[in-house]
Amino acid sequence: MGNADDEPLELESLPSEPVVLFRRWYEDSERAGIRLPNAIALATASADGRPSIRHVLLRDMGDDGFTFYTNHGSRKGSELAENPRAAFSIYWRELDRQISVTGDVAVVSDEGSDAYFATRPREARVGAWASRQSSELASRDELMERFAAFDARYAGDDVPRPPFWGGYRVAPITVEFWQGRQHRLHDRFLYGRSGDGWTIRRLSP
Ligand SMILES: Cc1cc2nc3c(=O)[nH]c(=O)nc-3n(C[C@H](O)[C@H](O)[C@H](O)COP(=O)(O)O)c2cc1C
Repeated sequence: MGNADDEPLELESLPSEPVVLFRRWYEDSERAGIRLPNAIALATASADGRPSIRHVLLRDMGDDGFTFYTNHGSRKGSELAENPRAAFSIYWRELDRQISVTGDVAVVSDEGSDAYFATRPREARVGAWASRQSSELASRDELMERFAAFDARYAGDDVPRPPFWGGYRVAPITVEFWQGRQHRLHDRFLYGRSGDGWTIRRLSP
């Protein structure tokens, strides 16, 4: 399992699809017992190019991209509405591995967001209603009062997904895999989308 004592990675033995290697490394990080292996630092930018960054949890990694869920009215949601591009990076310290992705972003279908929302604990679903994410609060009490109000409105377990909450999928354009090695002679491989397939290049560390 990946660490600096392993054999170096060779381009010839890499899978042709980056998502295959992403999943392999993700499974390694789960096996290594890393806490929140799906926490990614997600960068978005306003239309005039000013970046912002925060962590979110990656909820799905499929052939069509990488999915996370949030409030569409948040800062990241507003930026994605005006500039539907994102980058994210993930670092697994115990394995000394980093993966960095850039891509185009699309909103997940209502059905997809509904399905994921339904898997969340009830309190998290009520919390999604209560939080006007990224807007200013006068006090914590204001938040707790909003939570209590929605808790009462949706008494019972049937808490629908708020229309302002859902998923985004990052369809990758580049995916870089970084494996730490001794003497800073790290391995880096950059997948770049090319037509229906991918090119893979080894980069200098
Ligand atoms: C480990 C971690 C995971 C998080 N996961 C999410 C998430 O999946 N979705 C989300 O909306 N916010 C998540 N947050 C909170 C965000 O970092 C951020 O505070 C929030 O989404 C508002 O960001 P924005 O104002 O830049 O839009 C997470 C924070 C941390 C530290």
